[in-house]
Parts: sequence; C-alpha cells; structure tokens
Amino acid sequence: MTILVTGGAGFIGANFVLDWLAASNEAVINLDKLTYAGNPETLASLQGDARHQLVQGDIGDSALVSRLLAEHQPRAVINFAAESHVDRSIHGPGEFIETNIVGTFRLLEAVRGYWSGLADADIRAQGLAPTGAADKPTKAGFRFLHVSTDEVYGSLGKDDPAFAETHRYEPNSPYSASKAASDHLVRAWHHTYGLPVLTTNCSNNYGPYHFPEKLIPLMIVNALAGKPLPVYGDGMQVRDWLYVKDHCSAIRTVLAGGRLGETYNVGGWNEKPNIEIVQTVCKLLDEMRPKAGGSYASQITYVTDRPGHDRRYAIDARKLEAELGWKPAETFETGIRKTVAWYLANPEWVAHVQSGAYREWVNKQYA
Ligand code: NAD
Ligand code: DAU
Repeated sequence: MTILVTGGAGFIGANFVLDWLAASNEAVINLDKLTYAGNPETLASLQGDARHQLVQGDIGDSALVSRLLAEHQPRAVINFAAESHVDRSIHGPGEFIETNIVGTFRLLEAVRGYWSGLADADIRAQGLAPTGAADKPTKAGFRFLHVSTDEVYGSLGKDDPAFAETHRYEPNSPYSASKAASDHLVRAWHHTYGLPVLTTNCSNNYGPYHFPEKLIPLMIVNALAGKPLPVYGDGMQVRDWLYVKDHCSAIRTVLAGGRLGETYNVGGWNEKPNIEIVQTVCKLLDEMRPKAGGSYASQITYVTDRPGHDRRYAIDARKLEAELGWKPAETFETGIRKTVAWYLANPEWVAHVQSGAYREWVNKQYA
C-alpha cells in the first residue's frame, strides 16, 4: 500500500521519509509546499526511486489533496506540514495561521471525504467488495496521524512535573497557539466525524538536515564561520532534546499501534539549559575541528531575549513507553556527537542552504 506524508521535505518529515523507505517498500507520496524550509536536496538519495513521489503543493489546496488521495489510495496520512519556527511566528504570524490552522482544517476535510468513501472491513470479509479491493485500505484500517509539539502545553516552572498528555493547553507564542488550534481540530474531527486520528506531541528535535535557523544547527554553522553564537536572555531556558531519528521511530510506533483518538507525548528525558547545549556544541567542535587561537566558546554572545520566551519544556513520555514499548535509541551525548559529525561531513548541504542554492532544485524539478 501507500502512505501520504505532508511536509516531507522539511527537517523531521524528510528524516521520516528516508527512514521509512530504508526499512519498508511501502510507497510514499510526499506533499510539500517547498517553503523556505522545504529542501528537496535532502531527498536527493531518493531520485529515481519509484517508491517516492514528491509533489509540490499546499495542504490547504483541497482539490489537489483530494486528487492525490483518490489517485494513490493511501492507508495513512501523516501530517508534518507546518510553519515551525517560533521567532518567525513572532515577526509574522499570518503564515502560521494559514498553514497550521486553515491548512490543517482543509486537509482534514479532504481526508474525511476520502475516508468516508473507503470500503467497510465487513463488506470485504463477506466477499462483497469489488475485485482488486484487497490491496486497498479500509475505513477501519485508515489512520490520520498529526505531528505536533510540546509547546502547546505552555511553560513549566523549575520544579513542575514534566508535561503529561493530560496537561492543560496553554500556548504562549503565535506558533504554539496555531499548533494548539490544529490539535483541537484533529481531536474534533475524531469525536464528531469518527475520523481515525492519532496525535503526537514531541519535544525539541535535533539531528541531520536541521535548518540552520534553529538553535543547534545555527550554533554549529555560526561557530564554523567564526560568527557570534547568539544566546537569548540568560541562556537558562530549558528544552528537552530528542534525536530526530527517535522521533521518527516514535511516529512509526504510534502509527502501528496507537489507540484511536489518543495523543502520545514523545521525548527522551533530556532536559538541558540552552547555554549548556551551546557549550557542548563548542566542546565537540573543539575536539573534532579544532581552531587556532582557542575554543569556539569565545564566540558565545548573550543577546536580547525572545519576546514571551517560554522558560522550560519537559516531556513525560511514560504513556508511549508503557503502552507501545517505544524507547529512544540515542542519549543526548550520542545524538549530539552524531549531529555535529553530520554537519562537518556535509558542508555542501549547509552551503546550499546558506546561499539559497537549494531553491534551484525546486525551480529545476518541481516548478
Ligand atoms: P520544518 O519547518 O523543517 O518543515 C516543515 C515542512 O512543511 C517544510 O518542508 C515546508 O515546505 C512544509 N510546508 C509548510 N507549509 C506547508 C503547506 N501549507 N503545505 C504543504 N507543506 C508545507 O519543520 P519540522 O521541524 O520538520 O517540523 C515538522 C512538524 O513537526 C511540524 O508540524 C512541527 O510543528 C512539528 N514539531 C517539530 C519539532 C522540532 O523540534 N522541529 C518538535 C515537535 C513537533
Ligand atoms: O519544543 C518543540 C519545538 O522546538 C518545536 O515545536 C518547534 O517547531 C521547534 O522550532 C522548537 O522550538 P524552540 O523555540 O524551542 O526551538 P529553537 O531552536 O528556535 O530555540 C531553542 C531554544 O534556544 C529556545 O529557548 C530559544 C533559544 N535560542 C534559539 C536561537 C535560534 C537562542 O538562545 N538563540 C538562538 O539563536
């Protein structure tokens, strides 16, 4: 069968597609608007692979989504597509409302139209289904998995317990408010229409192919370029870090065994203050790419804080671990070492992102 992935040219979506096709022969239709964050060059190893089709388009384009669903008959839709950067949402929230809220609504409606036309499993069992239906998804087997964030829960105090799935929603940024709204829409489409949905709320990811506007890749790229390493405020804000491949394995696990209508928090129990992250990156670079004249840490520069900056996120992942047996494969120490090594080994990917040359892939192949 086939799955439809949205936002599969972005950081997490592309890692998901690459991992999926490395482990399975199930085809992937990859619908991505190819915004600044969508980078087809990340998927270069799949060129010519008949199992993968990248379609440039918007999740809010109902006609396109309905056509793709009818044509490819996926057994699941996994929704990664979003505007994802908090700082951008502060400077310009409009796109966040359009894609994360309106786009998710339109996607849900197109998926509901497709899903409601799928065969019931009992018709199939009675042999009443049309010829060739055996390799088509059923209504009961179909899944819509919505990929969301821990930021919907707001900010924790120093001694508060980590976010469980029962924590109230208290989003603080335009980004997190738009993701919270999308989570509520997904929930409502299950309760009202019976759409078989699953939602995951994950903590901060890091790893290969991360766009260098986010903390960890920005620090690596700036350090190597001899630029300042901008730390917001006092640098004591805490984030809970998960290696991106572990997020991808959690999504596969929830897709395979999650209970319908449920949400699952995803995290690796790796809370760290930002300044510690930046110092760790500097230490690894000092070891792997030593520079003349001292440590990269000398480039650390404290800058004005992000407005409304959430102080602490932490994920309680016990539900996912206990119900579905998921565990992350990487510790922060192994994951961050792999990440720094990946950026050192892939200067061309970084250079193309910085120069904008990755956009040429879009113009060349997907215009
Ligand atoms: P990203 O910004 O790297 O990628 C987003 C992708 O979505 C891009 O390829 C972009 O082109 C595409 N896109 C944007 N608008 C679209 C639209 N209207 N239609 C189709 N495609 C569109 O984001 P990411 O970090 O890979 O995050 C993926 C998902 O995971 C998001 O939903 C995000 O909220 C969620 N999430 C991210 C993190 C994290 O730490 N990065 C953690 C938890 C959850
Ligand atoms: O928690 C999950 C979320 O993590 C995802 O939903 C978002 O899509 C993702 O972008 C990420 O949001 P953050 O705002 O936590 O990530 P970011 O990398 O932008 O920042 C991480 C922390 O580092 C945050 O406290 C702000 C700080 N920071 C960030 C940048 C870019 C700095 O101090 N300096 C910087 O230059």
